[in-house]
Amino acid sequence: MKKGMKKTTYRSGSCEETMRLARMLGEQLKPGSVVALFGELGAGKTRFVQGLAEALQVQDVVNSPTFTLVNEYRGILPIYHIDLYRIQQEDEALDLGLDEYLYGEGVTVIEWSERIMNILPSSAWKVRITPAETETGRVIEMETPA
Ligand SMILES: Nc1ncnc2c1ncn2[C@@H]1O[C@H](COP(=O)(O)OP(=O)(O)OP(=O)(O)O)[C@@H](O)[C@H]1O
Ligand SMILES: [Mg+2]
Repeated sequence: MKKGMKKTTYRSGSCEETMRLARMLGEQLKPGSVVALFGELGAGKTRFVQGLAEALQVQDVVNSPTFTLVNEYRGILPIYHIDLYRIQQEDEALDLGLDEYLYGEGVTVIEWSERIMNILPSSAWKVRITPAETETGRVIEMETPA
């Protein structure tokens, strides 16, 4: 783990609880923040982004950017919501102009960050969502600035 970051592990028992954790994180976001989400299909990454967006007072509907790969929302900061599920190679993310988002003034949130491990800035906040014992249980690990 990068120096100056801390890791915290939470347990969520419901979709609402996941969104509450996301709002808590969302309130700490600043211009240029990058949030890298990890977790399998249906883990709750998009739900988490919905919570982040709420904290930034986004009014638009937040859904996975299936066809476009990038959705932009306007809140108190611009949010770039990127879903890399469909990319095969890291190059494709760069072709999308990922750099512009990562090093821009908005907040960049990435689903399927697994796809770009070598491109991800070391300063990125990391959130990993893993299924737990029950249907709606999740373990949520966050690596954020200390
Ligand atoms: N504790 C929980 N946290 C988050 N989502 C939950 C939880 N329990 C149940 N769910 C449900 O799991 C689903 C998660 O869907 P979501 O689209 O957020 O997953 P995803 O990780 O973005 O998947 P994908 O990889 O397909 O983009 C939602 O239907 C949500 O209601
Ligand atoms: Mg999703």
